[in-house]
Amino acid sequence: MVTVDAPVELTNFRLDYTTETIRRSLIVHADCFEMLGRIPANSIHAIVTDPPYGVKEYNFDQIEKRTNGNGGVWRIPPAFDGYNRAPLPRFTALNQKERDALYRFYREWGKLALRTLHPGGHIFIASNAFLSQLVFSALVESGLEFRGQIIRLVRTFRGGDRPKNAEDEFPGVCSMPRSGYEPWGLFRKPIPAGMTVGDCLRKFGTGGLRRVSEEQPFSDVILSERTPQRERQIANHPSLKPQSFLRKVVYAALPVGTGIIADPFMGSGSTVAAAEAVGLQCVGVERFADYYEMSKKAIPRLIAVSSEQPQIQQLFLDL
Ligand SMILES: C[S@@+](CC[C@H](N)C(=O)[O-])C[C@H]1O[C@@H](n2cnc3c(N)ncnc32)[C@H](O)[C@@H]1O
Repeated sequence: MVTVDAPVELTNFRLDYTTETIRRSLIVHADCFEMLGRIPANSIHAIVTDPPYGVKEYNFDQIEKRTNGNGGVWRIPPAFDGYNRAPLPRFTALNQKERDALYRFYREWGKLALRTLHPGGHIFIASNAFLSQLVFSALVESGLEFRGQIIRLVRTFRGGDRPKNAEDEFPGVCSMPRSGYEPWGLFRKPIPAGMTVGDCLRKFGTGGLRRVSEEQPFSDVILSERTPQRERQIANHPSLKPQSFLRKVVYAALPVGTGIIADPFMGSGSTVAAAEAVGLQCVGVERFADYYEMSKKAIPRLIAVSSEQPQIQQLFLDL
């Protein structure tokens, strides 16, 4: 069996794209739909990713609007405590046509993920309470097996507001709950008929999830934190996820501690950094040139960040 100390050759993933090797991992400047269709089938052991959720919020025109402070789907959340907020994509603004497009996007993406994963390979995919039902249904239709959700317990700035333009009339009402968690869908490429998880672990190094320790199983609730300022200063990406959370997820994603993790929507490379920080190999793919360039500098610095378990009292004090 391959061990973590013997990295897998990443040549197969370079194709004709602009790429860079960072330690034992690889980053690729490409559209992941195209790339996942071109790399060898059954070549990835797990996917850990945070995709675009309104699909369009990372279209070039929307990124430009965000940069210029010009609206689009990026809106500034209400400043309820005197602090200015960074813009968030407004998922509630999606109309039926856009919801249908979102469904098709994830059904097609799911088929590509299914093609590239080894049998038994897991997918961890970030979502939000508002769209997860739609996205997870599309992934199931693509042929992936739904294996539950990982709940990232985190206080966000979503929800909890009084009804728009009727705030004074209904001071005791909020139109949707203030969000206290982020759901991550957990999916698996079906294990071939007749094979057990043990067979799959032996043959492909997939099928299960790595325990935290021999005594402690991996849990589907993870106490988390908003991405710390020190990480934001390293990678100024609007959807940067914290190392403390990602390191736990990537560790769990490779049950025997070896193989290749892919992040097809890499952004600034936080998943690649988390994998490297726990001694694993990752292939990150990013379509937008500025974020790809950002990741080259950010990954080595994010790897070096120390991540401690956040204290639950700090996380929920102000819920
Ligand atoms: C939600 S962000 C992920 C950010 C990441 N979690 C981080 O910590 O930096 C999604 C990323 O996917 C990229 N993206 C969108 N469509 C893509 C595609 N088809 N192929 C590759 N990257 C894509 C966007 O440019 C954006 O950077």
